[in-house]
Amino acid sequence: MNIRIFDHAEQVGQAAATIMAAQVLEKPAAVLGLATGSSPVPAYRQLIRMHQSGALDFSQVTSFNLDEYVGIPEDHPCSYHRFMQENLFGQVNIPSDNTHVPDGNGVNLEETARAYDEAIQAAGGIDLQLLGIGRNGHIGFNEPGDEFIWGCHVVTLTESTIDANKRFFASEADVPRKAISLGVGAIVAARKVLLIATGKDKAEAIRGAVQGDVSPRLPASILRTHPQVTFLLDRDAASLL
Ligand code: GLP
Repeated sequence: MNIRIFDHAEQVGQAAATIMAAQVLEKPAAVLGLATGSSPVPAYRQLIRMHQSGALDFSQVTSFNLDEYVGIPEDHPCSYHRFMQENLFGQVNIPSDNTHVPDGNGVNLEETARAYDEAIQAAGGIDLQLLGIGRNGHIGFNEPGDEFIWGCHVVTLTESTIDANKRFFASEADVPRKAISLGVGAIVAARKVLLIATGKDKAEAIRGAVQGDVSPRLPASILRTHPQVTFLLDRDAASLL
């Protein structure tokens, strides 16, 4: 596990964007695993700047997002479809057919989940998976539990996650209680993994992920089993290491 610590969140974003850009330059048809939440936003901003300056071409890139809420429309202000459109896809030249975000509105979500894993396999797997981390150590929406869930699945969100994510919604009651998420299988099968964490409220989860047991009680700890994982942290997120 490679851990890099920076003074500011903006530098974390720059470093993440540099690694992602290097992946796309090395393999223009790269398959990127993408994340939502506030942590990746500085990285996405930097990737957009690189694209606008002509340094980065997304025309052959394929992307798979980690997760989506169940039961809110794609154009809902808090949906991850909309987040990706506004924070990256709408501002770079990735073909929309190449972008994938789980559909949280399907009639058969188990089937949606199975097809999502198959689509990743069919694309040749993920070259570089970008991750944030929840305060409770979740990755994607893999919440703490008794066992790691390997495949894409429907998840019931924990109170901790609902509380953390209510800031994006009008009220806590509006936060969806379910989501569809890649399992840890597709994440650890990615050839490289990049986890971004900034801020004091991530420090405990980062300590658990880096120094605790590998346990489904702290899903990010599974990353310790991965041969090519990099954690990009600011000083606050790294403060308990
Ligand atoms: C959500 C997402 C995660 C993300 C986490 C942290 O729960 N499903 O993928 O990592 O939030 O978000 P933030 O970066 O806003 O703290």
